[in-house]
Amino acid sequence: CTVVLAYSGGLDTSCILAWLKEEGYDVITYLANIGQDEDFESARKKAETLGATKVFIEDLRAEFVQDFIWPAVQANAVYEDRYLLGTAIARPCIAQRQVEIARQEGAQFVSHGATGKGNDQIRFELTCYALYPEVQVIAPWRIPKFYNRFRGRTDLMEYAQKHGIPVPVTPRAPWSMDANLMHISYESGILENPKCHAPGDLYLMTKNPEDSPNARDLLEIEFKKGVPIKVTNMNEGKSVDSPLDIFSYLNEIGGKHGVGRIDIVENRFIGMKSRGIYETPGGTILLQAHLDIETFTMDKEVRKIKQGLGVKFSELVYNGFWYSPECDFVRQCIAKSQENVEGKVQLSVFKGQVYILGRESPKSLYNEELVSMDVQGDYDPCDASGFIRVNAVRLREHHRLQGFFNTK
Ligand code: ARG
Ligand code: SIN
Repeated sequence: CTVVLAYSGGLDTSCILAWLKEEGYDVITYLANIGQDEDFESARKKAETLGATKVFIEDLRAEFVQDFIWPAVQANAVYEDRYLLGTAIARPCIAQRQVEIARQEGAQFVSHGATGKGNDQIRFELTCYALYPEVQVIAPWRIPKFYNRFRGRTDLMEYAQKHGIPVPVTPRAPWSMDANLMHISYESGILENPKCHAPGDLYLMTKNPEDSPNARDLLEIEFKKGVPIKVTNMNEGKSVDSPLDIFSYLNEIGGKHGVGRIDIVENRFIGMKSRGIYETPGGTILLQAHLDIETFTMDKEVRKIKQGLGVKFSELVYNGFWYSPECDFVRQCIAKSQENVEGKVQLSVFKGQVYILGRESPKSLYNEELVSMDVQGDYDPCDASGFIRVNAVRLREHHRLQGFFNTK
């Protein structure tokens, strides 16, 4: 039996690799490069030494940006008003390639190292089942035989030593991290106490705004169909225009100025609350810029409906339903709403903030003459009197009836 294991190169998934072999499986490891800071070659060697029959290291960065981050930008995707979903959108991207490999290699099984209490197990597995219905999932952290043997980190270390798995030498941060192009998340360990402040050296993508430069960066972001197609730094004249370069550059600028840090308690799909810290520098700049150009170019009532779809999309993605009929439908509606979302937004990035400064668009719905205080335009102010009086009918009736009920 062959299993494709989502392998990170870390201690947990290395032990899982060895354990799966012990259980009699042929193990193919699969490591997705979605922009995390990782030594992929040493992970490859490690997997080979541990007896992986094949090792896949897949560069999914461009795909991650175009097929997953861009739809999230179009949606203004935010979970529970704050979390930009950096981990949630990466899971279907990773798992989709994993099942492709499983099919191609004729493997019936896939495996991952997500715990039994989290969201990630759901996202991985729903994607696998949606795209490869006959697949069987091995989730060791939910198998008593496995988790009773590995009750803590010392058990893993001991097992690693016995099986020739290189044990990490640098002391581990007292929290768990998940990193990709879009963000880094931090949770568990000392962060589990929701009152405990994160130490300053936790953040790896963003500078503390207190120590960030005293001069702003002035950017122009050009959008087409609701996604950025070009970013220009107006200070330096530098510009970038491929999806991966655009997103990486916005991360660099956002990171330099400390943009996109949040510390929240959120609701997991599984029904418990968890505390998480996130940094999403480029994503936060794009969210602000996209909101601006969208409102500038989109009809008021369409915008309201689309906003509701964005909330729905975020919840579906958070809960692991990227590949579902309803999420597909919502994504298509959102994409349709973005047809005219184009133009340029100018903004500055400074001290943890994004300041929108101006915008222009060939598809602008803004009528300077119509709104101007100085020009009459195609508008008769006298009409406003009737408009207000008609809207007041209900309010006056409400007041009158309240007086009536109260005296009864
Ligand atoms: N709570 C966040 C989410 O559900 C982050 C999860 C982090 N995952 C991890 N394997 N460290 O999206
Ligand atoms: C995990 O359980 O593996 C990380 C946390 C989560 O998935 O929510």
